[in-house]
Amino acid sequence: MGNVLSAKNIRKSFLSPTKVDVLKGVDFELASGESIAIMGASGEGKSTLLHILGTLEEPTSGELYIAQKSVAKHPPPLLRNQHIGFVFQGFHLLESYTVLQNVLMPALIAKQPTHAGSKAHARACSLLEQVGLEKRITFQTKLLSGGEKQRVALARALCNDPDILLTDEPSGNLDHDTSSQIHRLLMESVNQMGKALIVVTHDPALARLCQKQYALVDGVLIPQAVHKEKSNGSHLS
Ligand SMILES: Nc1ncnc2c1ncn2[C@@H]1O[C@H](COP(=O)(O)OP(=O)(O)OP(=O)(O)O)[C@@H](O)[C@H]1O
Ligand SMILES: [Mg+2]
Repeated sequence: MGNVLSAKNIRKSFLSPTKVDVLKGVDFELASGESIAIMGASGEGKSTLLHILGTLEEPTSGELYIAQKSVAKHPPPLLRNQHIGFVFQGFHLLESYTVLQNVLMPALIAKQPTHAGSKAHARACSLLEQVGLEKRITFQTKLLSGGEKQRVALARALCNDPDILLTDEPSGNLDHDTSSQIHRLLMESVNQMGKALIVVTHDPALARLCQKQYALVDGVLIPQAVHKEKSNGSHLS
């Protein structure tokens, strides 16, 4: 099976207010059904890397291929809408829209029908049920708690049934039981639906569920020895 995401020598420097070399040559390949955890200290560039992989930010140099298509040669918004589900660290939901409208946004952008009875509508409702928010469907998003917003963001990321799921701290604000539920949903997406997953996380329990673990250190990805879920006392970063 081919790679769904391929990054070659990705570099990123911010120039203002002062020059910061955040990414100094990141390479990796991601295939369908594969899961990767990226850990690392705050400020190392994990979100920056995820934004670049999700075509939300441009690298300073390097090549990126999504579904074997060069991002430099195809319109990034189209590639993103067709192939990528993104969960932002700060959620980025439309606060004055309802929960359901937020989840349906990728389908709206793809110009799919979203009325009650449509395929997208049924899928959005089912995803909201899977993240435990069936009772909040008609709520204005601004009325939700942080953890509820996080779950809406995950449901939205899955709305268009993307091949690639990029998630930035997907269970950062959640209690133990709810975060276990989110971890299960993420892993089902990989193991049963064959999606490719990258999770940026500070949570070793989530990292251990992934097949590969990396630490982002000084601008490069360092492969970590794989720690299985039950191993105790292991530290990844
Ligand atoms: N637009 C920008 N202009 C200048 N510097 C930036 C910009 N965006 C991010 N940075 C800097 O790049 C570095 C990496 O930021 P990033 O958000 O990717 O870190 P992170 O690893 O996700 O951290 P955290 O774990 O706290 O979320 C930080 O030092 C940040 O200050
Ligand atoms: Mg971050």
